[in-house]
Amino acid sequence: MQTPRRVEHQLTDKGSVPVYATAVIEQPWASYEAVEHDTWRRLFERQSAILPGRACQEFVDNLNALGMDAEAIPKFEALNRHLRAATGWELIGVEGLLPELTFFEHLAARRFPVTWWIRRPEQFDYISEPDLFHDLFGHVPLLMNPVFADYMQAYGAGGVRASTFGDASLAELTRLYWYTVEFGLIATDDGLRIYGSGIVSSKGESIYALESPSPNRIGFDLTRVMRTRYRIDTFQKTYFVIDGFEQLFHATVDPDFAPIYRELAAQPAIPAGQVLATDRVYQRGSGQGWAADGDV
Ligand code: PHE
Ligand code: CO
Repeated sequence: MQTPRRVEHQLTDKGSVPVYATAVIEQPWASYEAVEHDTWRRLFERQSAILPGRACQEFVDNLNALGMDAEAIPKFEALNRHLRAATGWELIGVEGLLPELTFFEHLAARRFPVTWWIRRPEQFDYISEPDLFHDLFGHVPLLMNPVFADYMQAYGAGGVRASTFGDASLAELTRLYWYTVEFGLIATDDGLRIYGSGIVSSKGESIYALESPSPNRIGFDLTRVMRTRYRIDTFQKTYFVIDGFEQLFHATVDPDFAPIYRELAAQPAIPAGQVLATDRVYQRGSGQGWAADGDV
């Protein structure tokens, strides 16, 4: 087998740009070095310690059910045995970011692409693109949840369709992924919890998203989300809060997006940090919960 490449951002005269790779590769598990298993162990231990009571229970339970632990970088094949049995999803190894349409096609076929390589020790706290830790620890637990698993497949199918509607529609659909799969929050009977993989795989953002007074926490609304810009290089200014995975599923899978893309074409995008009069605001602290009308 040829050694897979490690495809990362490249510094060009335009600054740092993402590089795309399409190959599906076998995980070169035997070639991981001690320092790489150690990076996995340290990241795994750090996140596992802060997530109970912060991540939603489905995430914590499924992390255990998958048999991931701090011991060593997991083998995709071992995780796949659990995943296939639970929801029919499987992990495939990739070298880095995929072109959009390729990514959508994999999701639509219940294949989740996982970057085979893990960040270097000097990237421990921050890396600008998904690596093995983000992809496995962040994304795979919720693929064990049947409703979330169906949502992800439908998202992929929607992406394949959106590719025929043009760049503006694709950008709107990407915002939906960003504010749900990557940075979503969920209101539970026990309080606000994290489910987005970009948050659960980051120590700083796990605490910030729930505990900082700075960001907006706004009730999920499909077109509101699809109009909202986002930043990829700092913590989010706004998080969208769902009441459960069923709500997310019905709000996105049921409607035909074709008329929604047409309607949105006439509307301006909303800056990342803006709150609208029509937003339903989730309040933290002692009066935790949805703000009543006129409360904000
Ligand atoms: N219902 C969407 C469509 O008609 C597809 C979709 C499902 C998009 C789930 C996002 C999430 O295109
Ligand atoms: Co991700």
